Amino acid sequence: MLLKAEQAYLLTLLLIFPTSIVAGPLHAQCRLEWNFGITCFNIYTTLVNQIKQWTTVDSCKQGGERCLYELQSANPHYIVAKHTTMTYKYVDDLSFKLKSYDGMKSCHVTAFSVSEPWHIVQDNGINYCNLHNLVDGSGLTTVPGYTESTNDFQCTQYSTANCTVY
Ligand SMILES: *[C@@H]1O[C@H](CO)[C@@H](O)[C@H](O)[C@H]1NC(C)=O
Repeated sequence: MLLKAEQAYLLTLLLIFPTSIVAGPLHAQCRLEWNFGITCFNIYTTLVNQIKQWTTVDSCKQGGERCLYELQSANPHYIVAKHTTMTYKYVDDLSFKLKSYDGMKSCHVTAFSVSEPWHIVQDNGINYCNLHNLVDGSGLTTVPGYTESTNDFQCTQYSTANCTVY
């Protein structure tokens, strides 16, 4: 007789094994790290404002996916939002963890985006663009000390992502 925990473990293995041959995450998602040489409070207000500016379809009239963001909750340490793709109509869940360093003068952010439908494995880099478009559109990519780090193992189709399209 298998214990309940062992059964659950075996079932989990069986469920994930068929997709483990795909390069990159098993499910369409993106995790990245940003550093900024400005305060986390500044980052917090800027990201929240950008999400709020891109809630309606209007901001996608020129193309791209810089619209249909929805703020779920926000405080200076943690922001949660959703993004619906215009192209494919599914929802991605976004979160941002903000942590001060360098005597509060700089901010480190861990950002995560994951597609809600379980079957989505390839996403054309949409989960990456969900995150990157916010710092690009709000001008945060030009602040002192800005760095972004991720790779194809942490972000689905990162190296081929074209955030002008998505
Ligand atoms: C991204 O897509 C746009 C629009 O199709 C295109 O003009 C641009 O050259 C593409 N960028 C890259 C790096 O492929």
